[in-house]
Amino acid sequence: MSMRMLVTGGAGFIGSNFIRLALAEGDIGRLVNLDKLTYAGNLKSLADIEEDDRYCFIQGDIADGDLVEKLFAEHGIDTVVHFAAESHVDRSIVGPGEFVRTNVVGTFTLLDAARKAWADGTASTRRCRFLHVSTDEVYGSLGETGYFTEQTPYDPRSPYSASKAGSDHLASAWFHTYGLPVLITNCSNNYGPFQFPEKLIPLIINNARSGKDLPVYGDGKNVRDWLYVDDHCRAILRVLAAGEPGQTYNIGGNSEKQNIEVVTTICDLLDKKLGLLDGRPRRELIRFVKDRAGHDRRYAIDAGKIRRELGWQPRVRFEEGIEMTIDWYLNHQDWLDAVLDGSYQDYYRQMYHGR
Ligand code: NAD
Ligand code: TYD
Repeated sequence: MSMRMLVTGGAGFIGSNFIRLALAEGDIGRLVNLDKLTYAGNLKSLADIEEDDRYCFIQGDIADGDLVEKLFAEHGIDTVVHFAAESHVDRSIVGPGEFVRTNVVGTFTLLDAARKAWADGTASTRRCRFLHVSTDEVYGSLGETGYFTEQTPYDPRSPYSASKAGSDHLASAWFHTYGLPVLITNCSNNYGPFQFPEKLIPLIINNARSGKDLPVYGDGKNVRDWLYVDDHCRAILRVLAAGEPGQTYNIGGNSEKQNIEVVTTICDLLDKKLGLLDGRPRRELIRFVKDRAGHDRRYAIDAGKIRRELGWQPRVRFEEGIEMTIDWYLNHQDWLDAVLDGSYQDYYRQMYHGR
């Protein structure tokens, strides 16, 4: 039977990529996108699919219990893919309250609405799934060696990762206590089209394109494991189709890079594509700035479980993915202009220039 799916946060980066892929390749009868449209959500990211008869958009808050319960009932939801979150670590340091409200209270609200909706017998007649999308940051920070596995103890360090860890524990509790068919995925850093340009890769592309400073925190040697967003979305479809409720799946790109390597790669590719900037290489725009408070040193994922059990592995190598991403941003200035409104510019000035 086709899925009747509630996607939360579908106007954000990963959610919009997921909706596009799910409608193209998934067995979808109905897809309801519930998104509050915060600064990070933009319907321009979904302009090409909004006419699809199976799709509908609802602007609202995941922490609004009445609304969420109504959506379950009205649309006969049997599948939830929960992306909605406050997602930027730097913002969580400046204003953690919204992270607790959306990521913890919002996740609780959704879990409980699913429990109530599916307790009426739905789950005995239809295949129900609640997929909670989370991050590898819940595991804390690695040293030079080692990988996060599904058994790694939780050790979140930032308000963002602590709020995601809290939401993971709630999701797990709703499986153990109420038998809700919950699946949890913990994924490494994503990059690709439609990512809000406050995250490292789109920020550097956007600034380097136009000759602005490129802020690199600390010594630039922090390591992240980069995954092309389409690969993440394919993993989520795979977990929905074949994952076992109650299980956690780590998802990673097997592509560890120091931040400074990522930044110099983008500079060099832009020099090649656009020519030097006033005769100078873009690497000269790099500025080492004050480190992020509590900056996790290294993340790296062992994605062996999802490969062995569900047959998923990433398709896109970083070298290809970064070039596709740069090309996408160069060709979508209209999207960038639409998402970069005044409030973001104020935030950016305050964060990086102290004015
Ligand atoms: P994003 O910030 O681009 O998008 C978040 C979306 O959620 C936005 O559309 C926003 O409007 C919406 N939203 C925020 N608060 C809401 C609320 N209270 N009610 C309804 N909608 C709300 O985030 P993203 O990068 O697409 O991340 C999506 C999910 O994936 C998050 O749960 C994040 O923790 C997780 N994740 C992200 C990454 C990454 O590298 N970006 C990696 C691993 C996991
Ligand atoms: P980010 O994209 O914010 O993802 P996360 O903090 O969730 O991993 O940052 C990726 C890495 O890049 C992280 O180590 C912080 C660093 N960084 C910079 O050096 N400069 C920047 O301007 C930003 C936004 C991030």
